[in-house]
Amino acid sequence: MAVLKMCTYGDPILRKRAEDVSELNDDVLKYIIDLEETLSKQNGIGLAAPQVGIPKRIFLVDLRPSKEDKKIALINPEIIYRSSDIIEREEGCLSVPEVWGSVIRPESIKMKGMLPNGRIVTIRADGLYARALQHEYDHLEGVLFIDYLSTGELDKNKELLDTIIEKNRKKLDRIQI
Ligand code: NI
Repeated sequence: MAVLKMCTYGDPILRKRAEDVSELNDDVLKYIIDLEETLSKQNGIGLAAPQVGIPKRIFLVDLRPSKEDKKIALINPEIIYRSSDIIEREEGCLSVPEVWGSVIRPESIKMKGMLPNGRIVTIRADGLYARALQHEYDHLEGVLFIDYLSTGELDKNKELLDTIIEKNRKKLDRIQI
């Protein structure tokens, strides 16, 4: 088990479509344990594999920090239904630290995916659960919650966003051989 390093805004992996998991093998199960371990050290309710440098379609949602008893790891998830009812709520993201903004999303969804035991499930979710599942699914598509923010909200957070990008740039500059 390992606590993995978080990739933050500006890291190209966050903008790529993650790869399908072709086989449920030990590597995949290890990724899931690492995601659990990493998320447990963070103040968050979800974590997608690309956020820790693994370009695979796997994520974890764990609402227990929000006092809701929902925890699921999904492999190759698909959204098979989105309600026409939409709802606006403030979101943040472990890969975009300290930035918050309102995101409008379908209020309820149905999602299909594989559990770590290999079983294919379809889950119906609403409220915070639906929101977290959609947010994590977006990570697998290279989409970040800030992509949905209004120009005003983006302007409000511009300094923070620039700082995160600058930190990433400096990190890249240091890796020279
Ligand atoms: Ni996120």
